[in-house]
Amino acid sequence: MPAPMHEHMLANMRDHLAALSEIQAALAAGRYDQAADVAEQRIGMSSLERHGASHMAPYMPKAMQDIGTNMHRAASRLARAAQEASVTNEPSHALGALAELTQQCVACHASFRLK
Ligand code: HEC
Repeated sequence: MPAPMHEHMLANMRDHLAALSEIQAALAAGRYDQAADVAEQRIGMSSLERHGASHMAPYMPKAMQDIGTNMHRAASRLARAAQEASVTNEPSHALGALAELTQQCVACHASFRLK
């Protein structure tokens, strides 16, 4: 991956971590709609454009792209689970979906480095 893109990718990563923290705080406070918004807009399928995903993906090996796709999908599933929680007031599905999302972060970090 060209060096200027490293900075872009790491900036995306720092925003992902900040988003996870905001999601956890919102779930803990019972602000489920807010958790859903952050998950969808910052990490979910709706964030692909904003992260320049289509420019980055071609520089990643296929297995890495697949984990990235799994991460974006997991975040969108989390967003739906959090919306569900806002109706049922029962966050356990959303917490499970949050764990599945963070597993994708862990999986990619375990296998890939920028250089
Ligand atoms: C598709 C692969 C992939 C996924 C998925 C992924 N990361 Fe990363 N992340 C990386 C790579 C590669 C680096 C750079 C590691 C290196 O080169 O040492 C990185 C670095 C980071 C950094 C360090 C940023 C810096 O400024 O140095 C943070 C924080 C981070 N990731 C958070 C996350 C979080 C949170 C998630 C899940 C929501 C996530 N990442 C998902 C590949 C991924």
